[in-house]
Amino acid sequence: MTTVQPIDVRDMAIVHSTFRSAYDESARLVRANPTPSAERVTFLADHIDFGVGMLHHHHESEDALLYPLLVARVPEQAANTERVEHEHQLVAGAIDAVSTACATWRRQPSAETGEALAVALIALNDTLQGHLDDEEREIVPLAAVTLTQEEWDALGAHSRAQIPRNKMPIAFGMLLEPLGEADRAHMKSQLPAPVRLLYGVLIQRPWTKYATTLRTGT
Ligand SMILES: [Fe+2]
Ligand SMILES: [Fe+2]
Repeated sequence: MTTVQPIDVRDMAIVHSTFRSAYDESARLVRANPTPSAERVTFLADHIDFGVGMLHHHHESEDALLYPLLVARVPEQAANTERVEHEHQLVAGAIDAVSTACATWRRQPSAETGEALAVALIALNDTLQGHLDDEEREIVPLAAVTLTQEEWDALGAHSRAQIPRNKMPIAFGMLLEPLGEADRAHMKSQLPAPVRLLYGVLIQRPWTKYATTLRTGT
């Protein structure tokens, strides 16, 4: 029997850890101030739209580049693989609900529309956690012994390509913030060399400014 050397798949759990905390935090920030300034509403609504957009692109990449390969190459586990992929549809419904509630709050901010948005964010968070657990437990280990490193890395590249250039500091700042040193170094190593060299100026500084506004703005 030959043993397959697993590829490096750690970035999936790293990206998931950002998704695991983002929507809960957004709900808390919306609830923290029932009478926000117009500027605050725009900032927070933009942040929420961006946050759910990142998740949408993450799932789009998996639907295109991960699940079909696993189903084709490991047909004996196809039913289970498709079950976990199907969870994307539940998450998509919860994302749509957040987008709708966010548009309403942006247009007509009030305690009621803010609370409706917070409830939609919590519902997304609840639906999502189970999917992320299933994917990390059942899909990622299968991918580690089924895909090549190039195929796996294409998944991350596909997601990153959807992020507008001017949002890169926010996306990367959000991603790196909860990480320990080893994971942080690993994720930084995926950045283009010029960005890595100027990381402090291009990513860290704008992210710190953004995070301060996010968490202390009114
Ligand atoms: Fe994922
Ligand atoms: Fe997924």
